[in-house]
Amino acid sequence: MNGGPLLEVKDLVSGYAGSRVLDGISLTVNAGDAVAILGRNGAGKTTLLETIMGMVSASGGHVRVNGKDVTAKAPNVVSRAGVGIVPQGRRVFAPLTVEENLEIALRKRSGDWSIERVYDLMPRLRERRTNLGSQLSGGEQQMLAIGRALLGSPRLMLLDEPSDGLAPTVVEQVGQIIVDLASSGMAILIVEQDLRLAFAVSEDIAIMRKGEIVHRSSVADFRRDERLAQNLLGVG
Ligand SMILES: Nc1ncnc2c1ncn2[C@@H]1O[C@H](COP(=O)(O)OP(=O)(O)OP(=O)(O)O)[C@@H](O)[C@H]1O
Ligand SMILES: [Mg+2]
Repeated sequence: MNGGPLLEVKDLVSGYAGSRVLDGISLTVNAGDAVAILGRNGAGKTTLLETIMGMVSASGGHVRVNGKDVTAKAPNVVSRAGVGIVPQGRRVFAPLTVEENLEIALRKRSGDWSIERVYDLMPRLRERRTNLGSQLSGGEQQMLAIGRALLGSPRLMLLDEPSDGLAPTVVEQVGQIIVDLASSGMAILIVEQDLRLAFAVSEDIAIMRKGEIVHRSSVADFRRDERLAQNLLGVG
């Protein structure tokens, strides 16, 4: 512990060949905090998570994890610094079983999490351990993606639209898993379009528009002012 924030993003700039997407993002997440990132399609939410994780290379600014500079470092370096990611679209390996997907994530890692602990958190995965990724429901795939990220024993979990494509009852189940992780002390940075899930999981929100953070407040303050959701997200 260094006494500072667990995640410190400062003036972060990144994008893709020829197009700048993140236009100077600054954001901190303290140990144990849960922060939701909201914003319309194309605002740069996925690019932000992927730049933190080193999947997209930063061209300016800094990313520090627990005081360690991981700016533009490879994803495995960021993972070892204590960050896990559950990517948009889940990306489980379809031709491999649940257990094989988890074994790959566990390779060369030693930490607080084991495959048995993942199964204890999500017993559904234990029941499906010999099923192929391609045979799983959307909710089961999401649980597998969460399990895979947990095996890196992260202190901060990045989640990119975990509710996407799931039925409401399944969104609730996945939401409960995230709430359980947050209450165990894991820091959470979650991108969500489903406001109910975002509000259930987090205490704070950041709203992105065109590669910038245009609003930051507690969930409670945000919900008190209905015009904010209308103006910033076009909903409500
Ligand atoms: N691999 C890529 N190559 C080129 N441009 C990309 C790539 N990925 C995203 N972009 C562009 O970057 C911008 C931000 O995209 P990003 O996926 O970060 O947005 P988002 O807020 O996550 O959107 P959504 O809510 O639809 O997931 C968009 O204009 C998008 O077209
Ligand atoms: Mg996205």
